[in-house]
Amino acid sequence: MSREQNVLLLGGTTEASRMANSLAAAGIGGVFSYAGRTASPLPQPLPTRIGGFGGVAGLVGYLRAQKISHVVDATHPFAVQMSRNAVAACAESGIPLLALERPAWFRQPGDDWVLVPDEAGALAALPSAPARVFLALGQSVAGFAARPEHFYLLRLVDAPAAPLALPNVETVFARGPFTVAGDTELLRRHNIEIIVAKNAGGEGARAKLDAARTLGLRVVMIERPAPPARAVVAAVEDVLAWLGHSARLGV
Ligand SMILES: NC(=O)c1ccc[n+]([C@@H]2O[C@H](COP(=O)([O-])OP(=O)(O)OC[C@H]3O[C@@H](n4cnc5c(N)ncnc54)[C@H](OP(=O)(O)O)[C@@H]3O)[C@@H](O)[C@H]2O)c1
Repeated sequence: MSREQNVLLLGGTTEASRMANSLAAAGIGGVFSYAGRTASPLPQPLPTRIGGFGGVAGLVGYLRAQKISHVVDATHPFAVQMSRNAVAACAESGIPLLALERPAWFRQPGDDWVLVPDEAGALAALPSAPARVFLALGQSVAGFAARPEHFYLLRLVDAPAAPLALPNVETVFARGPFTVAGDTELLRRHNIEIIVAKNAGGEGARAKLDAARTLGLRVVMIERPAPPARAVVAAVEDVLAWLGHSARLGV
């Protein structure tokens, strides 16, 4: 069965890399797709393509041309445009689609979280007095130029494509997963008072939340955008089962 399968794995997350390892280990054919946001994406054990498909029509054409049998959407929970396109293109092409999505983070005892729906909400949740803020938002920070009174710490994989319009900013370069000890040290070293984060979920990025709880820091948490209606699982093993493979045996 595996020889007939040709899975398109939409990636860009730790979970997608795990999924790629499991597909390769099980001998399931497939292609890993990156959007192309980072200069040197992690190598994958599957043939890899990089860049957008060109909307729904482009994706439909790709699925047909590459004879894709299944699509696994393991994109980031905030990458809703790609997820919407995948739902529409798979419906049009009659190709089965499954989303691999990590559960959202939940507030734990000791957390000081302010929940906001989007970036505008995060901007409004910042105090009026100047504060030291860790923007754990990757490159999506341009909007914070509207609040230039604060100091901003950024953590990026690559140098910003364009100069940042933030007057008081410092950038560290690192790629997750991160540790609680490392994030605690980072927050202390920069005297951070507030963290702005997206509710990405998963293990690789949650260290900053555990560190914030220990240090008693406020977290302005941007909630997830609504995903399109689709079948979702949270574990790589469930995707393998969907593909008709035993996760335990790997075949
Ligand atoms: N948003 C985040 O916070 C975040 C965080 C970590 C990682 N990522 C990863 O970064 C990528 C881009 O995120 P985004 O929020 O910019 O996505 P998005 O807004 O949902 O997607 C915008 C466009 O980028 C292209 N694209 C996105 N993911 C792709 C993939 N895996 N393969 C090929 N093309 C892709 C598609 O272009 P076309 O319409 O031309 O096909 C899509 O319409 C995603 O792969 C996501 O998993 C995102």
